[in-house]
Amino acid sequence: MRLKDKTALISGAASGMGAATARLFAREGAKVAVADMLEAEGRAVVAEIEKAGGVARFLRLDVTEEPQWEAAVAEVTGAWGRLDILVNNAGISGSATNDLYDTGLWDRLMAVNGRGVFLGTKHAVAAMRGKGGGAIVNFSSISGVVGQERIHCGYNASKAAVRLLTKSVATQEGPAGIRVNSVHPGLMPPMRTSGATADPVFRAKMLGHVPLGRSGEVDEVANAVLFLASDEASYITGAELHVDGGYLAC
Ligand SMILES: NC(=O)c1ccc[n+]([C@@H]2O[C@H](COP(=O)([O-])OP(=O)(O)OC[C@H]3O[C@@H](n4cnc5c(N)ncnc54)[C@H](O)[C@@H]3O)[C@@H](O)[C@H]2O)c1
Repeated sequence: MRLKDKTALISGAASGMGAATARLFAREGAKVAVADMLEAEGRAVVAEIEKAGGVARFLRLDVTEEPQWEAAVAEVTGAWGRLDILVNNAGISGSATNDLYDTGLWDRLMAVNGRGVFLGTKHAVAAMRGKGGGAIVNFSSISGVVGQERIHCGYNASKAAVRLLTKSVATQEGPAGIRVNSVHPGLMPPMRTSGATADPVFRAKMLGHVPLGRSGEVDEVANAVLFLASDEASYITGAELHVDGGYLAC
């Protein structure tokens, strides 16, 4: 088991890639805190993990709220003694509106995709320091590296912020044994909040830029997160792993 005896908190784990990562981590021996605003869906993921013999608990968490992060990290360390892994996965889409200059969406994107990752990192680092370190994996995107049509620039800007926040914290927390890396999924199943990027015409056009010629599956991203979170990646920090079928290579 690749995460035996580790504890992990995954934000946005009620759905999509977060849920896939939670299931995979539990199968690999981790105790998993499934943290999300969606309580019914999050509890369903926990039930599924427990049914398969794993250990999990649901935490109600809005990643934009600092007191909720404090409480979530305290609950994990209180219940399981330590926090080894944080996956900052929660996010909202940049294609929820057709108005690509919607100021309200800019603010929400920065709050959830940017501030949420900062707050999670801040409180996880405080729990990991002096405890032998840990691993943080942040969800950026291909959109954190290049621009795209029909996606609000705030999505790209928030995901680019995650990319550099990752390298900054990796630099600062290396001496404490805390590794921080980012994953950059490409064309994946649409998010709950997707608009244009769920449109088959848009997706078909994007596929034309994917050398592997297909969209990705949530488990393919979860496998990359598992690698970065595990001790197999013990000398990897500040890195970005593109899980995009080659989109960024061309
Ligand atoms: N789906 C894609 O095409 C794609 C591509 C690249 C990157 N990403 C990124 O991957 C991550 C996961 O996306 P997904 O496709 O699984 O989407 P999803 O919509 O299925 O899951 C996102 C989860 O985050 C949760 N969430 C949203 N706001 C939150 C908040 N304020 N506090 C707590 N939880 C909150 C949602 O409830 C949901 O469970 C996101 O960060 C997304 O930006 C997605």
